[in-house]
Amino acid sequence: MQEIRIAKRITRLPKHFFSDLVGRVDRLLAEGKDLIDLGRGNPDIPTPPHIVEELCQAVQDPRTHRYGPFPGLPELREAIAHWYAQRYGVKLDPGREVAVLFGSKVGLYEVSYCLLESGDLCLVPDPGYPDYWSGIAMVGAKQVGMPLLAENNFFPRYEDLPRDVARAAKLMFLNYPGNPTTTLATREFFEETVRFARDNEIIVAHDAAYQALIFDGRQNPSFLEVEGAKEVGVEFCSLSKTFSMAGWRVGFVLGNAEIIRAITILQNHLFAGLFPAVQRAAVAALTGPQDCIAEMVRVYQSRRDTFIEGLREIGWNVPKPGGSFFCWLPIPAGYSSLELANLFLEKAGVVVAPGVGFGPHGEGYVRAGLLTDEDTLREAARRIGELGIFGQERSTA
Ligand SMILES: Cc1ncc(COP(=O)(O)O)c(C=O)c1O
Repeated sequence: MQEIRIAKRITRLPKHFFSDLVGRVDRLLAEGKDLIDLGRGNPDIPTPPHIVEELCQAVQDPRTHRYGPFPGLPELREAIAHWYAQRYGVKLDPGREVAVLFGSKVGLYEVSYCLLESGDLCLVPDPGYPDYWSGIAMVGAKQVGMPLLAENNFFPRYEDLPRDVARAAKLMFLNYPGNPTTTLATREFFEETVRFARDNEIIVAHDAAYQALIFDGRQNPSFLEVEGAKEVGVEFCSLSKTFSMAGWRVGFVLGNAEIIRAITILQNHLFAGLFPAVQRAAVAALTGPQDCIAEMVRVYQSRRDTFIEGLREIGWNVPKPGGSFFCWLPIPAGYSSLELANLFLEKAGVVVAPGVGFGPHGEGYVRAGLLTDEDTLREAARRIGELGIFGQERSTA
């Protein structure tokens, strides 16, 4: 038998930490175990009907059955630029500063592929979304984690990075509202980021996948809003969470024209554009009524309040997330995040993601998703409470 040798660029890809957990949970569910799965990040709210309706109509039009323009329908690129200008007051050239993506996940990989050489250094948030690591590993570059600590409000402290690391770094990933930290960005932080990036000639890739899911009427600025941001980087956006369209696979990347050009060249070699009917539905999402976003935020915020209140009632003093659809929960002393997640799974039938899966500084936390109804979230808190590991006094924090 001929030996099939797989290229190193595949074999060196990091093992997906959560795939074991997901496999185990799926097996237990198939066996009929009563589990509440708060471990994943898959939106459960259906896509708004006017977007689904547009897809149904677009599918009937045979013009959508052909290849579309490789860089995406011009009307979609224009709709993206218009939506972003309306939301953030940032003007973008739809021809040069916008690229359509098969979901932002693909773009987060592509940006490393386009910008990093083997041996280059890339800064990543720790804890952070593990998919940043894939593109970095694929091209043989190295990653250095920037610790995101509660005492620094989950922002990196650029002044703490070793000078040689800051000098050598070529690319940096950031993510606000953060997965898993749930932190919102501030203008001051983005301004500091632009200064740091300029001083050290680092390109910034800001992942804004949760940009629309902001609670309590607060604001989360866009990276490109800040003066000079377009010279140093790009921002990744996604319809997955903003319009509950995760399965549709539509994202976009905006900003620096040189980076957009490189990503477009790569995509022209890899793909022939998204299904045009899906692109027309994406136009409907971006140009249609936006109150569906506010309604989604209302649902997630109400779930957040119910769940956090439930956890505080069982004596687990946890902070309220400011955005995203996750809760980032500091765990009691004496457990590792993996031990606590296993305990919840085995003894309470509640699945959460152990923080260490997001990087070494995720240790000490577990992540829970608000992707089920309030009764189920209340029940999850009750089951966790029955473990008896949290004090029973009611927190007022
Ligand atoms: C932080 C973050 N960025 C990006 C993505 C990718 O989103 P999509 O590829 O659906 O646009 C996710 C998905 O869970 C995420 O959590």
